[in-house]
Order: sequence, then structure tokens, then C-alpha cells
Amino acid sequence: MVRMKSVLAGLALSASMIAGIASAQTATEIPRIVTKNGRHALIVDGAPFLMLGAQVNNSSNYASALPQVWPMLDRIHANTVEIPIAWQQVEPVEGKFDLSFLQALLDQARAHDKRVVLLWFGTWKNTAGNYTPDWVKTDNRRFPRMKKKDGTDHYVHSPMFRSTLEADKRAFVEVLKYLKAHDPQNTVILVQPENEVGSYVSPRDYGPQANAVFAKPVPAELAKALKKPVGSWAQLFGVQADRAFNTWHTARYVNEIAAAGKAIKPLPMYVNASLAGPSNVPDPTGVASGGPQQDVLDIWKAAAPAIDFQAPDIYDRDAGHVALYLDGYARPDNALMVPEIGNAPEFARFFYAALGRGAIGYAPFGMDETGYFNYPLGAKSLDDATVDAIARKYGALSGMARDWAKIAYEHPTWGAAKPEDGAAQTTTMGDWSIRASFGEWQFGEKDWTWIKSVPPAWANDPVGGVAVAQLSATEFLVTGDHVRVRFDAAKTGPANGIMLRVEEGTMVDGRWVMSRVWNGDQTDYGINLLTPVILKVTMGSYK
Ligand code: DGJ
Repeated sequence: MVRMKSVLAGLALSASMIAGIASAQTATEIPRIVTKNGRHALIVDGAPFLMLGAQVNNSSNYASALPQVWPMLDRIHANTVEIPIAWQQVEPVEGKFDLSFLQALLDQARAHDKRVVLLWFGTWKNTAGNYTPDWVKTDNRRFPRMKKKDGTDHYVHSPMFRSTLEADKRAFVEVLKYLKAHDPQNTVILVQPENEVGSYVSPRDYGPQANAVFAKPVPAELAKALKKPVGSWAQLFGVQADRAFNTWHTARYVNEIAAAGKAIKPLPMYVNASLAGPSNVPDPTGVASGGPQQDVLDIWKAAAPAIDFQAPDIYDRDAGHVALYLDGYARPDNALMVPEIGNAPEFARFFYAALGRGAIGYAPFGMDETGYFNYPLGAKSLDDATVDAIARKYGALSGMARDWAKIAYEHPTWGAAKPEDGAAQTTTMGDWSIRASFGEWQFGEKDWTWIKSVPPAWANDPVGGVAVAQLSATEFLVTGDHVRVRFDAAKTGPANGIMLRVEEGTMVDGRWVMSRVWNGDQTDYGINLLTPVILKVTMGSYK
């Protein structure tokens, strides 16, 4: 018995020693966002990382649902899961914290070789307080909801009360403390404090405390950041005054929570926007007023320096609108990341449009096998064709996601998705012009009259896109599908420019590895990509 005890003690000692050694060995550099020459990278384990992500359904944030998450992630070649962790599950009783889901998530994500983006559903989830614990929901004195103009309660918790902010912050900090202690290998690479913040219908809190603050001038730091003279909210923002006010106070609130979390473990943090229409003048009562929509990014930047970037949740199928959204968030001072996009097949081509704008990550929403589908925002079902629309694109890049991220950080990129009218998209990169056209067979020309042909089955479908990265003056990486890509000398390029060589292959640790050369029919009619692969195109000229 004594001997048994000492053996057990010895085992316990060596187990804890091993755990200590393991965590010391596996501790990695904390992820961060870097920016150079207006381009951005998410650095994970010390090197650029392209997040081929997927967001699960809202209620998949329990250990019981996780077995229905990983097969879908594997199926689409995702390297990252975006998944909620809710205030209500972390602190069901005030001051008593339960991080068991987080541990299950970390264990399983590691076992399935996935990184994690943690979505903190706290005071606000799609603007509402549904994910607050019951002791918050039911105590409207301590945690007041906004007041409407008529003095009645609005459904949104007000950002104007420290009691709510302190309570949310305390729980969020517990999550970060847990990560600091239990995630030395940084399985969690990004954190999203709150989800789609703002207020629908009533643009701000009209209660007496809020009105008193609203009566004061705009904070000097905001006026300065916007390069405007200090004045009233109405003087600076006109009809958007109430919205600007709620944006500032919501962003300050989120910033304080993010900063407190970062003080524990400085993971990169971002916020997601329930988008207004693509126009720059949304109706303050029709938008999630306070959220980081593209026209108020500068208010968010000034109010929330602890937030690394703002990000668009895209559920608009119109390709022109999507391009405007992507352009609105891809800024030299804002890394583009698409944390949510519809999972219906017609959205999948926008992956290329995002990559071409230097996106550091991308995630269709509702990707798990729990049997829930958020049509009409997303897909009616996750049938094979729907899943393949994104799986094939991720699959082509999955082995070289880090290479792509490094290249996109250091080199120009361009991308296009088939527009609503199907028109060809063009650009110039250095000496070369690039043209992407859609709805063509892999062989032949549309204007051939000497032989009869019918358009391909996908000619009128919302499919097709391409992403290009310029590696050097004459070399390009290309990926895409349902697209014909032509490279030619630009007006300013060489007189006798030619496409010298097209190779199919992949990058392995920064090195191009060719599998075959494309020539003959495969290049005589442009480069025709039906299924995504990776190509290296080399241009040249003759004398
Ligand atoms: C956007 C939200 O951020 C998600 O959590 C989810 O509710 C989708 N809308 C709709 O499915």
C-alpha cells in the first residue's frame, strides 16, 4: 500500500512536470496584426497566417455540439473555427465562473488541428442582451436598457452605465485569464469582443443620463481625430448625430473591455458590423446604430484603439455591393477580414474578391452539422454542391495558406468575383494587364461562328472569380474557378510581351513546387480554371 502510494505520488509529480515542460515547450509568440506599406498580416506562431475560417451556428457553443463541428471544418479544409463563448455560460451565477466549455474547445481544436477565433457574446449579440446571464437580464436597475424617446425601455442594454460595463469586463477578463493560463500554444488566435453591436430602430439611449451627456460637446479627442472643430453632436454630425453619439459610446465601452482583456493576454481583437446598405448615408433608425459600419469606421478608430480592426458581416448577394463593402474595410489602417459571409454557393466567389484585397481571413457562417440553416441569409442546406463551392477554394490554398499570407503581406494582390452583369473584370499589375471573364468554356472563343456551340451550364450562374498575387516584375500566382484569365502586356509594358510559361503546382515553405506545365489547349484560349488550382504565370517578351 505504501509502495503503491509512493508510485502514485511519483506518477503525479512526473505528470505535472511533464505538463510544465510541455507548456514551456509549446508556448509560442502571441498572435498579432502587423502592417507594412498599407498591407496587413495576421502573425501566428511568428509567421503570417491566412485564416481559412468557418463560423459555427450560434448554439454550437457547447461541448455536446462540438462533434458536429469538426467534420464540417475538415470537409471544407478550414484551418480555423470561429465559435461563440457566451457570458451566460461563463458566469451563470454572479462571481462564479465556469470555463469548462473553453477547455473542451481548446482540447478538441488542438486534436483536430484547428485554430480558434473566440466570439464573446456579452452585453450585445446582434445588438440584444440575450446572451447576458439571467442575473443581468432581470436586473434593469443595475443593468439598464436604453430608453426610447417616449421614455419606455428599448430592448438594447445601454452603453452609458458603468455597472454593465464593469460586470461584462470582469467576465471577459476571466476568459482571457483562462487563455493566459491554459493556452500557451495560442490555439486561440483572435478574439471578437461582443457581436454586431448597435441598436435597431432607436439610434441611441434617450434616458436622462444619456441626454445629459449628449447635451455636452463632442469629446475633444473625437473632434481632433475627425479633424473637426469641437461642437455639439448635431453641429458635427447633423442628421447622424444620435448615431454618432451611440457609436462613440458603444465603441468606448467595447474598447474598455478589449483593453482589459489585452492587459491579461494581448491577443488581437476585432469587432464585426451588421452592415447598412452599401451607401454611405444609412438611415440612423434603419441600421444597427453604434456598430462599426463602413461610414463610421473613423469614429470607431478614435474611440477604440484596443480594437485591431473592424470587419464586415456580409449577407448581401449583390456582387457590386460586396465589392463596395470589401473596399470600405480594406484600408491601410484596417486589415480586411470577413468574419461572416453567407454560406450559400453564390457567396463563395467573393472569397477571391476578398483575397485580392489582401484579406487576412474569411469565414462563411453556419458551417457545422447541427442541421440548422439560416436561409435566406445563407444556404437552404449544406448539400455537397454548396459545401464544395467553398471547400474546393480552401482546398487549393490549404497547404500553402501561410505562403499566401506572406506573399499578400509583401506583394500586390488583385481579385475579382463575377459581377451581376457577368462583365469581364480587368486590372493592370506592373507591366501587365489581366482580364478575368466569366461564363466561357475551357476551350475556344465565344465569337467563333464556324462551329456551333451552346453556352456552358454555369454561364448565367453566380459563380466565378480569381485572385492574383504579383511575385516579381514578371511572375504571378493565380487561383480561381469558373473563370478565364488572360495576361497581356499593358500599354506601358513591353512591345512584344508574351506569356512565357504557366505552371501548376503549389508553394512548400516559401518555395514554388511545380507539378506540370500548362500549354497547348490549356493556354491557347487564356487560362481557364474550372476547379481551383494554383498556377504560376511567368510573363516575358522577345526582341
Ligand atoms: C449575424 C450574426 O452575427 C450571427 O451571429 C448570426 O445571428 C447571423 N447574423 C444570422 O444567422
